[in-house]
Amino acid sequence: MALNIKVGPIGALDMLKFKNQVKKRNQIIDSTTPAPLPEEYGTNARARALHPKAQTLLVKEVRQHQPDVKSYLLGREDGEPTAYFRAGQYLSVRLSIGGSEITRPYSISSAPQLALQGNYWITVKRTSPGFASDYILENWQEGTAVNVSGPEGEFYYEPLRDAKTVIGLAGGSGITPFLSMAYAIRDAAEDFNLTVLYGSRTKEDILFADEFAAIEKECPKVHLVNVLSDEEKEGMEHGFLTASLIQKYAGEEPFSVFACGPSAMYHFLDTELPKLNLEQKYIRRELLGAEKQPWTLPGYPTDKKDQIFQLTVKYVGNEKVIEASANEPVLVAIERAGIAAPSHCRSGECGYCHSRLVSGEVYIPEVSDGRRAADKEYGYIHPCASYPISDLVIELPGVY
Ligand code: FES
Repeated sequence: MALNIKVGPIGALDMLKFKNQVKKRNQIIDSTTPAPLPEEYGTNARARALHPKAQTLLVKEVRQHQPDVKSYLLGREDGEPTAYFRAGQYLSVRLSIGGSEITRPYSISSAPQLALQGNYWITVKRTSPGFASDYILENWQEGTAVNVSGPEGEFYYEPLRDAKTVIGLAGGSGITPFLSMAYAIRDAAEDFNLTVLYGSRTKEDILFADEFAAIEKECPKVHLVNVLSDEEKEGMEHGFLTASLIQKYAGEEPFSVFACGPSAMYHFLDTELPKLNLEQKYIRRELLGAEKQPWTLPGYPTDKKDQIFQLTVKYVGNEKVIEASANEPVLVAIERAGIAAPSHCRSGECGYCHSRLVSGEVYIPEVSDGRRAADKEYGYIHPCASYPISDLVIELPGVY
């Protein structure tokens, strides 16, 4: 095939024209003042607003629900929006208590919309043994300045993964993420059917009964069923969160199970949920804290229980040798020594505490082993979910 190339009457002049193009372009560039680069790009500002590393908030209101349970309204002083979140996420609260630098995750119980007005509600229940919860219940009052993370966690509805119907299994203050989800459904920020089976010992222990009742009136997609273990009450189920009870309220359509509660509830569910034959992706659980009795878990070397080991911690140019018990996560020992280690979820999931194990051995429960394959290969652990079973040397990440 012949090429059809047009050549000007004087070919050499065409070449000159081309050569002058570069000169001309440089003249234009030199004659204009370049616009200064923006100091900040909108995308970066938006990303920082949505995922701040830390937020300084004030306690604006305190509500006492029960002798050992209070809710706190945390908000910005200037009324600007706090970081928006997905219903079910949590805030990691940073505290300095008696020389220890610690964090604790608390689920947000309010509607995501409330963040647009600069506020979140969280609920704190005294635990046994208590430390952070005791401190908060006894010290936080209106006007207290509080340091929290941005919203964190994966415990939220994801339509690509979850069934359209969710059965929530809640125990104690584990009801809080479900309250937030119920608000989000009511406000059309989320679209799924939510039935929460809420396990309590007695009617007196139930939290947020009025709030759920009000939402149920407005929104037929939300339903709360109270399940009492220690007494029988009209209109409430009696017993535990068994597979047959879950099936009773789930019906015949596909459903996901979301669970949030104390370890004892999870241990019980470990025997009940397999009876439902659900695909793994339909079972979600929020841990929010390490296993308190690791010696009850499979694979724990019980001969190490109660033993104390030497833990050498390397961090930002420092090195400190401390003691660590095989009964507690490495992170707890580090915090007790007053070292401000990074952490958010405290259950092996988020990877924020990700640190290098230079030497030694740790026990990591399978249920909270959130490490990636590369972490395992290159010797990284999550100190929040690792228990010392020999002397250790550990290197914390440099910047957090
Ligand atoms: S704090 Fe989340 S993995 Fe350790």
